[in-house]
Amino acid sequence: MPDGVNVAGAVQAPGTGQRILGWLKGHMDLVFRIARTLAPILVVRIRGRTWALVTRYDDVQEVLSRPNVFDVPYAPKIATIMDGDNIFLGMRDEERYTRDKTNMRMTAPRAEAVARVGPETARLAAAVIDRARPAGRLDLAMELTQDVTTRLFGSYLGTPGRSLRGFSDQARGLFGYMFADLFDDPARKLAAEPLAAAMRGYVEETIAARKLARGKHDDVLERCLAFQEMGLPGFSDREIRNNMIGLIVGALPQPPMVIPQLFEVLLDRPRELAAAQAAALAGDDAMLARHVFEASRFYPLTPGLFRNCLEDYRLAAGTWRARTIPAGAFVMAATRSAMFDGRKLRDPRAFRTDRPAEAYMHFGYGMHECFGVYMNRVMIPEICKAVLRLPDLRRAAGPAGRLRMDDEFGIFPMNLTIEFG
Ligand code: HEM
Repeated sequence: MPDGVNVAGAVQAPGTGQRILGWLKGHMDLVFRIARTLAPILVVRIRGRTWALVTRYDDVQEVLSRPNVFDVPYAPKIATIMDGDNIFLGMRDEERYTRDKTNMRMTAPRAEAVARVGPETARLAAAVIDRARPAGRLDLAMELTQDVTTRLFGSYLGTPGRSLRGFSDQARGLFGYMFADLFDDPARKLAAEPLAAAMRGYVEETIAARKLARGKHDDVLERCLAFQEMGLPGFSDREIRNNMIGLIVGALPQPPMVIPQLFEVLLDRPRELAAAQAAALAGDDAMLARHVFEASRFYPLTPGLFRNCLEDYRLAAGTWRARTIPAGAFVMAATRSAMFDGRKLRDPRAFRTDRPAEAYMHFGYGMHECFGVYMNRVMIPEICKAVLRLPDLRRAAGPAGRLRMDDEFGIFPMNLTIEFG
């Protein structure tokens, strides 16, 4: 097969990209399966640009392990949000990347995932569920997970927002702009600009207010200011603002995506649901987490992670499937496909709870692996546990009992109502 299949003649009209993506979305796992077998590294030219789809486990990890060849595409959108600046999510493997990610890790120590995030998540989830108990109905998206996530990170980061709903809507709008606007739609940029300005304004005011009330909080913002006082590089007001916005936009929207999606899977699998419930009731957190992340494999956050290829690169060199990805190509490292690659995973289409940790790439892979990974591993199962412990758990009747996504981006769960008791 040639290194680039030019389909430019066939694909011209505006919106074609969206239509192709729409079709692929509906048939994703089948397309990935065929691609993994016949063209594991697919390189095509569409409308003058080279696109590469990488579907095998090893190759996906190779792409994600070369951050200076396969660069994250987020910097231009981050610049819109941060008024011209970048944050570590948008950087290559460079000095500032390491400094800034290390700085933020110092403000949110890994040990706090278990010691603080876990118990706080359990408390917040119990409060929502107690309110839902009399009616015996609960929406897992906006009512439960959005509420818990926004409150949890509001207090842990030190940025609760002016209103819970408004703040999480703002974060979701910015997340959609950053990650779901593949074709750089000018309308999306116009919509994101005022959201970004409002977010910057809020975080700047919060930093200024905190400077007048120091020593009363124990959160990420307080620790940033303590490091600023110590004179550590990377903690100017503006850098604190940018990194705080990065965490807010990363943290708030994603658990409310992943959790309803994995319940959409579990609720259709009575045997696995029963086993997950048994683990939740028995307090077997390890087994519960295995069920949760395995269910998520069947409906993960995203089909894949995108990268800009900066130089000609021979991927899977030395194998029959090796292909040269040219500089300028837009590459999708299909993590969803990788998590179904039978060359790495035993019995990939089966729901199994005995998979090794490396079967999963829910939180990315390589240098840009999720900053919140340790928190996610605790908080996601904790929220699920609160739901799985409910007696007689089932989908609500009618459309409310089916996962409904947002109209604007089509990636955010808006509702999945369950009944219980
Ligand atoms: C369900 C929850 C979450 C999921 C599924 C998730 C997923 C991901 C993934 C896949 C990446 C890698 C992006 C790439 O390589 O292109 C990532 C990066 C990142 N995530 Fe998360 N995330 C979650 C929660 C969080 C939370 C709670 C925070 C903050 C507290 C956070 C902050 C970040 C940041 C700052 C990065 C950039 C890391 C870097 O560039 O080194 N995420 N996340």
